[in-house]
Amino acid sequence: MKKIIYEKYGDAEVLKLAESAVPEPAQGEILVKVMAAGINPVDYKIRNGSLRFIYRAKFPRTPGGDIAGIVEKNGSGASKFNTGDKVFAMLPIGIGGYSEYVCVKEDLVSNMPDNISFDEASAIPLAGITALQSLRDKGNIRSDMHVLINGGSGGVGSLAIQIVKAYNGEVTAVCSEKNIEFVKKLGADHVINYEKEDFTRLNTQYDIVFDAVAKSSFSESKRVIKRKGTYITTIPKPSVMLRQIINPLLSKKTFGIMAKPGSDDLNYLAKLVAEEKLKPEIEKVYELGKASDAHRHIETGRVRGKLVIAMNH
Ligand SMILES: NC(=O)c1ccc[n+]([C@@H]2O[C@H](COP(=O)([O-])OP(=O)(O)OC[C@H]3O[C@@H](n4cnc5c(N)ncnc54)[C@H](OP(=O)(O)O)[C@@H]3O)[C@@H](O)[C@H]2O)c1
Repeated sequence: MKKIIYEKYGDAEVLKLAESAVPEPAQGEILVKVMAAGINPVDYKIRNGSLRFIYRAKFPRTPGGDIAGIVEKNGSGASKFNTGDKVFAMLPIGIGGYSEYVCVKEDLVSNMPDNISFDEASAIPLAGITALQSLRDKGNIRSDMHVLINGGSGGVGSLAIQIVKAYNGEVTAVCSEKNIEFVKKLGADHVINYEKEDFTRLNTQYDIVFDAVAKSSFSESKRVIKRKGTYITTIPKPSVMLRQIINPLLSKKTFGIMAKPGSDDLNYLAKLVAEEKLKPEIEKVYELGKASDAHRHIETGRVRGKLVIAMNH
């Protein structure tokens, strides 16, 4: 089988296409024939070494955490899925999804909704779980809430807009001029163009400020957060984690999200997809051998929706 590997930290050129044996599923695992692998910014942050003090693993490594594919084989004790089932998953760090086959614990895997493609399904796991766990678990989202999403056009933000609408909330999305129509199409009720206006200086207050692209801070945003409101960021810096500890003493809470893999949340996202309340938007699909190009693209920080690697086996 083919997979992408890298033998040292570095820029996108370190990614190479390699051949290896198809892995055997261990106890409780299933072997998945990967049809598509979603790309996330964390893939390049691990590759370039900027997260080396958090994620330690031996080389060679295979990047990627999001997959969609077909169950090929059950390991001993794995019984939730049948051969031929279409599934998707967020893999724990270290397995590597840019690979034609992966073995994964069946508890981390969910059935794929029927109404989307493998490419679309692979675009959901990490970004969707991050958006859901931020809004539901940290923000306690309800239908009467007004949520501001900074970075509404990105992988996390584009799914977050749709999740707020699925909860019948009101959404203000912050994006650049070129993405205004895109976020409106996803369901944004109001749009702030960050090239013209700074959302932290405007006069509306929100129940939740979800900074999906982590470009703001609590201190800049607090004047636009309602009393008992919540600020959530996708980059949990030490200052955010310290503030999180004293949340019980504060009227405006701060959270840094660390998405946790699991099939319960993926099942919920699959249900939203089946109900046509959630659909990932894909800007570009790359071949496995073009993973370096895909990383250069995601590193621009300008992707609209998601990037995906399709495996053609
Ligand atoms: N902690 C966790 O568990 C977790 C999980 C997932 C992601 N993350 C992190 O969350 C961040 C976002 O992830 P992602 O997948 O959404 O990234 P992404 O898709 O690469 O984000 C790109 C988007 O951000 C927008 N953007 C860039 N600068 C902006 C600004 N100043 N204001 C508003 N929007 C801006 C871009 O739109 P324009 O071109 O219009 O600027 C583009 O659409 C990354 O840092 C990622 O590592 C953390």
